[in-house]
Amino acid sequence: MNHESYVKRLKLEVNDLREKRRAVILAHNYQSPEIQDAADYVGDSLELARRAVAVDADVIVFAGVSFMAEVAAILNEDKTIIHPVREAGCPLADFLGVETVKKFRDDYPDAPLVLYVNSSADAKMYADYIVTSASALKLISKLDDDTVLFGPDKNLASYVEKRTDKKIIPIPSNGYCYVHEQLIRRRHIEKARDEHPNASLLVHPEVSPEAQELADYVGSTSQMLRAIGRLKSDEFLLGTEEGHTYRAKTLYPDKEIFPVNPRAICIDMKKITLENIKKSLENMKPKVILEKKISDKVKEILDRSLRLIK
Ligand code: 13P
Ligand code: SF4
Repeated sequence: MNHESYVKRLKLEVNDLREKRRAVILAHNYQSPEIQDAADYVGDSLELARRAVAVDADVIVFAGVSFMAEVAAILNEDKTIIHPVREAGCPLADFLGVETVKKFRDDYPDAPLVLYVNSSADAKMYADYIVTSASALKLISKLDDDTVLFGPDKNLASYVEKRTDKKIIPIPSNGYCYVHEQLIRRRHIEKARDEHPNASLLVHPEVSPEAQELADYVGSTSQMLRAIGRLKSDEFLLGTEEGHTYRAKTLYPDKEIFPVNPRAICIDMKKITLENIKKSLENMKPKVILEKKISDKVKEILDRSLRLIK
């Protein structure tokens, strides 16, 4: 059987199981084309969190990394959340341990602590607010405080600081995503621009401030998609994980869209496959189960944060 027929058969099997389980598949914009095509909904972290609450289903299969599946579980006590590979984590989230959070809390007792959703559930328990890259600027702008603690992404912290009159203290001082910080640098951008001199450059706020400076637009994955619709260009370069190019091309088939670096791959995102989605629907595991004390506390913070950005 060739690859195409194999994927076709897998998709049919996944569909049957999805119906049988009354399940939906939510997939992040960085997932592989097969998964994006098979998913009920594809989006950024904020959209997926909202969608997880809105969908009418008994089971959610989450094709993304672990913190995203955990947020879906925290917001949905009554649904079963399945994350096909629990070890698919986010190395950026691992930069922020609870001890660091506590230390900064003690050092800056009056500053609110805003955590990027790319963080562990344990760290989130200490936050005043939780944001995604799509909501960070909006939420922090609404706070009265002049100084804000923000972690774990130092580049998103700098993005927000440049666009507000606030002092944003990154916690820790050196948290970053290797895909964005190391694989979308000036030299990758210059090479891509040489190849596509007429393209508009859109980058994610997780890239370095230097790379952000070179861009025509900086925004979350969903904000980039909207920018493609708004901007006059026919050609775009996307400075983010390579999977996002497929998503953008699906939505804008008439535009020329290229990744800045086709090797900017998030290994953890790509641990999810159609095969392990099928297996997880067959076995109904691995389920995402968090300690009630943690999920109740984080839910309260997520609800408060979502209300503020409405
Ligand atoms: P978005 O919220 O923009 O989809 O980003 C999530 C992420 O992990 C970026 O690397
Ligand atoms: Fe985490 Fe970076 Fe992967 Fe996004 S791309 S999930 S921030 S490691």
